Amino acid sequence: MNKSKILIARAVFPEVIARLSQTFDVETNPTDEIWTKAQLIERLRGKVGAFTTGGERIDAEVLAACPDLKIVANMSVGYNNFDVPAMTAAGVLATNAPDVLTETTADFGFALLMATARRVTESEHYLRAGQWTKWSYDMFAGSDVHGATLGILGMGRIGQGIARRGAHGFGMNVIYHNRSRLAPALEAACKARYVSKDELLQSADHLVLVLPYSAESHHAIGAAEIAKMKPTATLINIARGGIVDDAALAAALRDKRIAAAGLDVFEGEPKVHPDLLTVPNVVLTPHIASATRPTRMAMANLAADNLVGFLTQGKPLTALNPEVLKR
Ligand code: DGY
Repeated sequence: MNKSKILIARAVFPEVIARLSQTFDVETNPTDEIWTKAQLIERLRGKVGAFTTGGERIDAEVLAACPDLKIVANMSVGYNNFDVPAMTAAGVLATNAPDVLTETTADFGFALLMATARRVTESEHYLRAGQWTKWSYDMFAGSDVHGATLGILGMGRIGQGIARRGAHGFGMNVIYHNRSRLAPALEAACKARYVSKDELLQSADHLVLVLPYSAESHHAIGAAEIAKMKPTATLINIARGGIVDDAALAAALRDKRIAAAGLDVFEGEPKVHPDLLTVPNVVLTPHIASATRPTRMAMANLAADNLVGFLTQGKPLTALNPEVLKR
């Protein structure tokens, strides 16, 4: 019997490719080339499923050109590469990879917060450059994390993981803002207090962004929002590029309107706004918040489970548009 054809759009664990190859006729991208939209369409034609990593745009144009497509499975929790309404209209199932990365990503949010507040990378560069000739009383004096006010914008699973770490591990006063308020039991577990966005901006010593990217959250943090923050505050973005206006942030960091920032995601990544590369008070990492081997493996396996579950039994695990299943 002929196997159904699927495309794995980026390089991924060989174990996962081998697993999928047991069920499907798999086309891969062994050189891990970043395809143009035309190249993606060319490879997607005739495929019923696609394994994507979060960077491949699936929109009405792609869907119209690939009528055999039935499912696209992201190995990321974020799915701003999908035009979900267009996928639903085309009867194409969209799946993402939630939950399996929550704790790993929350760990990294905290690591970035700590590195930023305590100026870890800036001081390491200074040491490596041979500039450390004597100890001095205020050398790389940063800001405290323990006991400080932790602000969280976006209180989904990862936001809650960061809140728990802050409240229970570091005795922080946790405040948050979200589209909807958490149930009282969840607020109690996170020891988190719901506040308005303005109060969050004005009160946080450390503000962590964990909200999904959408047209509504585009530049949720720009010059006006940064102006409301404390001059001693730090800003951490582990959510998505585009949520922060990177040019406005770079200017604010240069002018010391806030103390520091830690960024794992960027507008137009992998390009980074050149001004961010010239300011010292920012910690920059290349979108690695979920990057531990077990977690990336779990994310890839969940995408594979969605492909196998849906294409062999009509049962995906984490559908974003389950209404497609009812047709
Ligand atoms: C996610 O899963 O959305 C992470 O940002 C990795 O892409």
